[in-house]
Amino acid sequence: MEVNLQACRPPTPAKPQSRAVQSQIGRERLGGITSLLGTGAFCWGLWRLGAVAQSRHGSRRPRSVRTVTWNMQCGCAYIPDLLPEESFRDVVNEYQSLRNRLADEGPCVARGRRVIAISEGSGSGSTAWRLFQSYWLRLRIQREARLRFLPLLPKVSDCPLEYREYREGSSMLWHKDTVLTEPPQLELVYTLENTSDSVTRWATSHLDVLNRRVQEVWTAPNSALLVQAGGPVHMVRELKTGHRVVLKAVLLPKPIGSGPLYAAPTARWFENLTRCNKIQDGVEA
Ligand SMILES: [Fe+2]
Repeated sequence: MEVNLQACRPPTPAKPQSRAVQSQIGRERLGGITSLLGTGAFCWGLWRLGAVAQSRHGSRRPRSVRTVTWNMQCGCAYIPDLLPEESFRDVVNEYQSLRNRLADEGPCVARGRRVIAISEGSGSGSTAWRLFQSYWLRLRIQREARLRFLPLLPKVSDCPLEYREYREGSSMLWHKDTVLTEPPQLELVYTLENTSDSVTRWATSHLDVLNRRVQEVWTAPNSALLVQAGGPVHMVRELKTGHRVVLKAVLLPKPIGSGPLYAAPTARWFENLTRCNKIQDGVEA
Protein backbone atom coordinates (compact mmCIF):
# COMPACT_ATOMS: atom_id res chain seq x y z
CA MET A 1 0.00 0.00 0.00
CA GLU A 2 1.39 3.36 -0.97
CA VAL A 3 2.17 5.81 1.78
CA ASN A 4 2.62 9.50 1.19
CA LEU A 5 6.05 10.30 2.55
CA GLN A 6 5.24 13.95 2.96
CA ALA A 7 2.33 13.15 5.24
CA CYS A 8 4.61 11.17 7.57
CA ARG A 9 7.48 13.65 7.60
CA PRO A 10 8.02 15.83 10.70
CA PRO A 11 6.60 19.27 9.96
CA THR A 12 9.57 20.99 11.60
CA PRO A 13 13.08 19.82 12.53
CA ALA A 14 13.07 18.08 15.88
CA LYS A 15 14.50 19.93 18.85
CA PRO A 16 15.61 18.50 22.19
CA GLN A 17 12.43 17.70 24.07
CA SER A 18 11.36 15.89 27.17
CA ARG A 19 10.80 12.16 26.82
CA ALA A 20 7.09 12.56 27.40
CA VAL A 21 6.83 15.04 24.54
CA GLN A 22 9.02 12.88 22.31
CA SER A 23 6.87 9.84 23.01
CA GLN A 24 3.75 11.81 22.22
CA ILE A 25 5.28 12.97 18.94
CA GLY A 26 6.18 9.39 18.12
CA ARG A 27 2.64 8.23 18.83
CA GLU A 28 1.17 11.00 16.69
CA ARG A 29 3.49 10.21 13.81
CA LEU A 30 2.78 6.55 14.19
CA GLY A 31 -0.91 7.37 14.20
CA GLY A 32 -0.45 9.22 10.92
CA ILE A 33 1.20 6.23 9.35
CA THR A 34 -1.25 3.68 10.66
CA SER A 35 -4.19 5.76 9.51
CA LEU A 36 -2.66 5.80 6.05
CA LEU A 37 -2.34 2.06 6.25
CA GLY A 38 -5.95 1.81 7.34
CA THR A 39 -5.28 -0.46 10.31
CA GLY A 40 -4.43 -0.10 13.99
CA ALA A 41 -1.21 -2.02 13.58
CA PHE A 42 1.64 -1.87 11.10
CA CYS A 43 1.47 -5.39 9.88
CA TRP A 44 -0.92 -8.26 9.79
CA GLY A 45 0.57 -11.69 9.71
CA LEU A 46 1.48 -13.73 6.71
CA TRP A 47 0.15 -16.64 8.67
CA ARG A 48 -3.21 -14.90 8.97
CA LEU A 49 -3.07 -14.00 5.27
CA GLY A 50 -2.28 -17.62 4.53
CA ALA A 51 -5.26 -18.74 6.56
CA VAL A 52 -7.58 -16.48 4.54
CA ALA A 53 -6.15 -17.70 1.25
CA GLN A 54 -6.51 -21.23 2.47
CA SER A 55 -10.21 -20.86 3.26
CA ARG A 56 -10.89 -19.07 -0.04
CA HIS A 57 -9.21 -21.61 -2.24
CA GLY A 58 -9.97 -24.65 -0.14
CA SER A 59 -6.42 -25.95 -0.36
CA ARG A 60 -3.70 -26.16 2.24
CA ARG A 61 -0.65 -23.97 1.74
CA PRO A 62 2.82 -25.49 1.95
CA ARG A 63 3.86 -25.63 5.58
CA SER A 64 7.18 -23.92 4.82
CA VAL A 65 5.34 -20.69 4.02
CA ARG A 66 4.12 -20.53 7.58
CA THR A 67 7.24 -21.56 9.44
CA VAL A 68 9.84 -19.19 8.02
CA THR A 69 8.01 -15.97 8.86
CA TRP A 70 7.57 -14.00 12.02
CA ASN A 71 3.92 -13.37 11.24
CA MET A 72 4.63 -9.85 10.02
CA GLN A 73 3.38 -9.33 6.50
CA CYS A 74 5.72 -6.44 5.73
CA GLY A 75 8.48 -7.79 7.97
CA CYS A 76 8.54 -4.66 10.10
CA ALA A 77 6.73 -3.47 13.24
CA TYR A 78 6.96 -0.43 15.54
CA ILE A 79 6.21 -0.67 19.27
CA PRO A 80 6.06 2.61 21.26
CA ASP A 81 6.65 2.68 25.04
CA LEU A 82 8.21 -0.77 25.17
CA LEU A 83 9.55 -0.68 28.73
CA PRO A 84 8.18 0.64 32.01
CA GLU A 85 9.65 4.04 32.90
CA GLU A 86 12.02 2.66 35.54
CA SER A 87 13.45 -0.01 33.23
CA PHE A 88 13.83 2.53 30.44
CA ARG A 89 15.86 4.73 32.82
CA ASP A 90 18.01 1.76 33.83
CA VAL A 91 18.97 1.07 30.21
CA VAL A 92 19.67 4.76 29.55
CA ASN A 93 21.91 4.84 32.63
CA GLU A 94 23.76 1.77 31.41
CA TYR A 95 24.39 3.42 28.08
CA GLN A 96 25.62 6.58 29.85
CA SER A 97 28.11 4.52 31.84
CA LEU A 98 29.47 2.95 28.64
CA ARG A 99 29.35 5.80 26.17
CA ASN A 100 32.96 6.88 26.65
CA ARG A 101 33.94 3.45 25.25
CA LEU A 102 31.99 3.82 22.02
CA ALA A 103 34.19 3.27 18.97
CA ASP A 104 33.87 3.79 15.25
CA GLU A 105 32.10 0.84 13.72
CA GLY A 106 34.39 0.61 10.72
CA PRO A 107 33.31 -0.16 7.14
CA CYS A 108 29.64 -1.12 7.10
CA VAL A 109 26.31 0.01 5.74
CA ALA A 110 26.18 2.86 8.29
CA ARG A 111 28.23 6.03 8.05
CA GLY A 112 29.62 7.84 11.09
CA ARG A 113 28.01 5.50 13.59
CA ARG A 114 29.75 4.57 16.82
CA VAL A 115 29.12 1.32 18.67
CA ILE A 116 29.88 -0.74 21.71
CA ALA A 117 28.89 -4.38 22.04
CA ILE A 118 27.97 -5.53 25.52
CA SER A 119 27.56 -8.93 27.05
CA GLU A 120 26.53 -10.38 30.36
CA GLY A 121 30.07 -10.55 31.60
CA SER A 122 31.21 -7.05 30.68
CA GLY A 123 30.76 -5.31 34.02
CA SER A 124 28.01 -2.74 33.98
CA GLY A 125 26.83 -3.89 30.56
CA SER A 126 24.28 -6.36 31.84
CA THR A 127 21.10 -4.40 32.63
CA ALA A 128 19.77 -4.38 29.08
CA TRP A 129 20.71 -8.00 28.66
CA ARG A 130 18.73 -9.09 31.72
CA LEU A 131 15.72 -7.09 30.56
CA PHE A 132 15.68 -8.34 27.00
CA GLN A 133 16.04 -11.97 27.96
CA SER A 134 13.24 -11.73 30.54
CA TYR A 135 10.10 -13.71 29.82
CA TRP A 136 7.70 -10.81 30.33
CA LEU A 137 9.47 -8.57 27.83
CA ARG A 138 9.75 -11.29 25.20
CA LEU A 139 6.06 -12.00 25.69
CA ARG A 140 5.25 -8.30 25.31
CA ILE A 141 7.22 -8.13 22.06
CA GLN A 142 5.47 -11.24 20.80
CA ARG A 143 2.04 -9.81 21.55
CA GLU A 144 2.66 -6.29 20.31
CA ALA A 145 4.23 -7.44 17.03
CA ARG A 146 1.84 -10.38 16.71
CA LEU A 147 4.65 -12.86 16.32
CA ARG A 148 3.94 -16.57 16.01
CA PHE A 149 7.03 -17.32 18.09
CA LEU A 150 8.11 -16.27 21.54
CA PRO A 151 11.39 -14.57 20.60
CA LEU A 152 14.65 -15.62 22.22
CA LEU A 153 17.96 -13.83 22.69
CA PRO A 154 20.93 -15.83 21.38
CA LYS A 155 23.62 -16.84 23.86
CA VAL A 156 25.67 -13.94 25.18
CA SER A 157 28.82 -15.26 23.55
CA ASP A 158 27.10 -15.66 20.18
CA CYS A 159 25.48 -12.31 19.64
CA PRO A 160 25.95 -9.46 22.12
CA LEU A 161 23.68 -6.45 22.39
CA GLU A 162 25.02 -3.30 20.79
CA TYR A 163 24.62 0.32 21.77
CA ARG A 164 24.78 2.45 18.63
CA GLU A 165 25.10 6.22 18.47
CA TYR A 166 24.22 8.36 15.47
CA ARG A 167 25.54 11.93 15.45
CA GLU A 168 25.14 14.82 13.03
CA GLY A 169 26.13 13.54 9.61
CA SER A 170 25.53 9.88 10.51
CA SER A 171 23.23 7.79 8.35
CA MET A 172 22.53 4.26 7.20
CA LEU A 173 22.07 3.29 3.56
CA TRP A 174 19.23 1.24 2.15
CA HIS A 175 19.90 -2.43 2.84
CA LYS A 176 18.43 -5.74 3.94
CA ASP A 177 19.68 -7.29 7.15
CA THR A 178 21.93 -10.27 6.60
CA VAL A 179 20.22 -13.57 7.35
CA LEU A 180 22.20 -15.16 10.18
CA THR A 181 19.88 -18.07 10.89
CA GLU A 182 17.21 -20.15 9.22
CA PRO A 183 14.41 -19.30 9.98
CA PRO A 184 15.68 -15.72 9.72
CA GLN A 185 16.35 -13.77 12.89
CA LEU A 186 14.48 -10.64 13.86
CA GLU A 187 16.49 -7.48 14.54
CA LEU A 188 15.20 -5.18 17.26
CA VAL A 189 16.23 -1.52 17.41
CA TYR A 190 15.29 0.01 20.76
CA THR A 191 15.63 3.80 20.89
CA LEU A 192 17.08 5.37 24.04
CA GLU A 193 17.59 8.98 22.97
CA ASN A 194 16.49 10.88 19.91
CA THR A 195 16.89 14.63 19.58
CA SER A 196 17.50 14.33 15.86
CA ASP A 197 15.51 15.19 12.75
CA SER A 198 16.25 11.75 11.33
CA VAL A 199 13.68 9.13 10.42
CA THR A 200 13.93 5.42 9.74
CA ARG A 201 12.41 4.30 6.46
CA TRP A 202 11.52 0.88 5.11
CA ALA A 203 9.96 -0.68 2.05
CA THR A 204 9.20 -4.14 0.76
CA SER A 205 11.86 -3.94 -1.96
CA HIS A 206 14.24 -1.57 -3.72
CA LEU A 207 11.66 -1.33 -6.51
CA ASP A 208 9.15 0.00 -3.98
CA VAL A 209 11.74 2.56 -2.88
CA LEU A 210 12.06 3.77 -6.47
CA ASN A 211 8.27 3.99 -6.69
CA ARG A 212 8.11 5.86 -3.36
CA ARG A 213 6.12 3.13 -1.67
CA VAL A 214 7.98 3.76 1.54
CA GLN A 215 7.01 3.97 5.21
CA GLU A 216 8.90 5.98 7.79
CA VAL A 217 8.86 6.78 11.48
CA TRP A 218 10.72 9.09 13.83
CA THR A 219 11.64 6.55 16.50
CA ALA A 220 10.65 7.87 19.91
CA PRO A 221 12.71 7.11 23.02
CA ASN A 222 11.55 3.84 24.58
CA SER A 223 10.19 2.57 21.27
CA ALA A 224 11.22 -0.58 19.42
CA LEU A 225 11.42 -1.17 15.70
CA LEU A 226 11.46 -4.80 14.61
CA VAL A 227 12.78 -5.86 11.23
CA GLN A 228 12.94 -9.36 9.85
CA ALA A 229 16.36 -10.22 8.39
CA GLY A 230 16.29 -10.75 4.64
CA GLY A 231 12.91 -9.00 4.54
CA PRO A 232 12.23 -5.30 4.02
CA VAL A 233 14.89 -2.87 2.89
CA HIS A 234 15.43 -0.04 5.35
CA MET A 235 17.61 3.00 6.00
CA VAL A 236 18.25 5.84 8.46
CA ARG A 237 18.14 9.32 6.98
CA GLU A 238 21.22 11.45 7.63
CA LEU A 239 21.03 13.47 10.83
CA LYS A 240 21.17 17.19 10.18
CA THR A 241 20.82 18.02 13.85
CA GLY A 242 20.80 16.28 17.22
CA HIS A 243 21.74 12.70 17.97
CA ARG A 244 20.10 9.30 18.25
CA VAL A 245 21.07 6.37 20.46
CA VAL A 246 19.69 2.87 19.98
CA LEU A 247 20.22 -0.56 21.41
CA LYS A 248 20.30 -3.36 18.84
CA ALA A 249 19.34 -6.90 19.74
CA VAL A 250 18.97 -10.04 17.67
CA LEU A 251 15.91 -12.18 18.37
CA LEU A 252 15.51 -15.81 17.30
CA PRO A 253 12.41 -17.97 16.84
CA LYS A 254 14.24 -21.00 18.27
CA PRO A 255 17.54 -21.69 20.02
CA ILE A 256 20.57 -22.26 17.80
CA GLY A 257 21.24 -25.88 16.96
CA SER A 258 20.45 -28.55 14.41
CA GLY A 259 17.15 -30.28 13.77
CA PRO A 260 13.56 -29.07 13.49
CA LEU A 261 13.42 -27.68 17.04
CA TYR A 262 16.36 -25.35 16.44
CA ALA A 263 17.31 -22.40 14.26
CA ALA A 264 20.18 -23.31 11.96
CA PRO A 265 23.09 -20.85 11.78
CA THR A 266 24.03 -19.74 8.27
CA ALA A 267 27.60 -19.11 7.10
CA ARG A 268 27.04 -15.42 7.84
CA TRP A 269 26.35 -16.27 11.49
CA PHE A 270 29.97 -17.25 11.96
CA GLU A 271 31.21 -14.18 10.08
CA ASN A 272 29.10 -12.08 12.43
CA LEU A 273 30.81 -13.68 15.43
CA THR A 274 34.13 -12.31 14.20
CA ARG A 275 32.63 -8.83 13.79
CA CYS A 276 31.10 -8.94 17.29
CA ASN A 277 34.41 -9.92 18.82
CA LYS A 278 36.04 -6.90 17.19
CA ILE A 279 33.56 -4.37 18.54
CA GLN A 280 33.08 -6.02 21.94
CA ASP A 281 33.72 -3.72 24.85
CA GLY A 282 34.69 -0.77 22.71
CA VAL A 283 37.61 -2.33 20.90
CA GLU A 284 37.76 -0.54 17.59
CA ALA A 285 37.11 -2.65 14.51
FE1 LIG B 1 19.50 -3.13 9.19
